Amino acid sequence: MTVSDRTVAIIGAGNVGGRLAKNFATGGQDFLLAGSDPEAARKLAADLDGHAEVVTVDEAVARADVLVIAVWLDSFKQLIAQYGEQLAGKVIVDPSNPVGPDSDGNYRKVIGEQESSGQILAGLLPAGARLVKAFGTLSAPTLSAAAWREPERAVQFYAADDDAAGDLVADLIRADGFEPVRVGGVDQSIRIEMFGDLHEYGALGRVVTKSEALAAI
Ligand SMILES: NC(=O)c1ccc[n+]([C@@H]2O[C@H](COP(=O)([O-])OP(=O)(O)OC[C@H]3O[C@@H](n4cnc5c(N)ncnc54)[C@H](OP(=O)(O)O)[C@@H]3O)[C@@H](O)[C@H]2O)c1
Repeated sequence: MTVSDRTVAIIGAGNVGGRLAKNFATGGQDFLLAGSDPEAARKLAADLDGHAEVVTVDEAVARADVLVIAVWLDSFKQLIAQYGEQLAGKVIVDPSNPVGPDSDGNYRKVIGEQESSGQILAGLLPAGARLVKAFGTLSAPTLSAAAWREPERAVQFYAADDDAAGDLVADLIRADGFEPVRVGGVDQSIRIEMFGDLHEYGALGRVVTKSEALAAI
């Protein structure tokens, strides 16, 4: 089963959701698009060559097999609380970085030093929902700038406990214009979230090719 046999949705039509939407359209990936502002989602979809169908969040949750939830951590938690059992059986893709601004305008981690939002969110999902951490390792501008890189694709790391769910998200990463590299299970999410060693702004500190990524993990 590949992602082309599944219904994909992006929830959240902001900075990251909007860039993913553009990349997916370039990659020929059809998807449902649901934002909190339907007009903004419709505007975004108008430039996506018919690849995006604008729907409500309710409809996206009801119809999609794979939900990319491109919202901030607190909103993500609220969505899980709101939809609960409706998420069972679905692949939930988590790009969130557990950060917020400090008093100097820099980012700081808003959860414990050793915690990851991937693990926290996975623990909130109902049984049967499978979380895959992906699309949060690069900054939003890099998500656009490094997509479809030639001659060798740039890497997006992902973390998954479930092989089949991970494979679907690897397909989505390819549709996003990147090369997928799995870092391990969801317990490795911390490495690919902001302040993790494999994050674009972490010890790795840059966009990498597959061979560089494999050497780093
Ligand atoms: N920005 C980056 O460089 C970057 C890079 C990697 C990962 N991330 C992560 O990606 C996530 C999104 O970041 P972002 O920069 O895209 O934020 P953003 O530009 O603020 O976009 C978030 C979007 O989610 C929408 N939203 C919030 N609650 C919603 C709900 N219940 N249903 C539907 N839409 C909802 C917001 O709409 P309203 O504003 O109308 O509420 C907003 O359009 C965050 O977890 C962040 O940590 C960000």
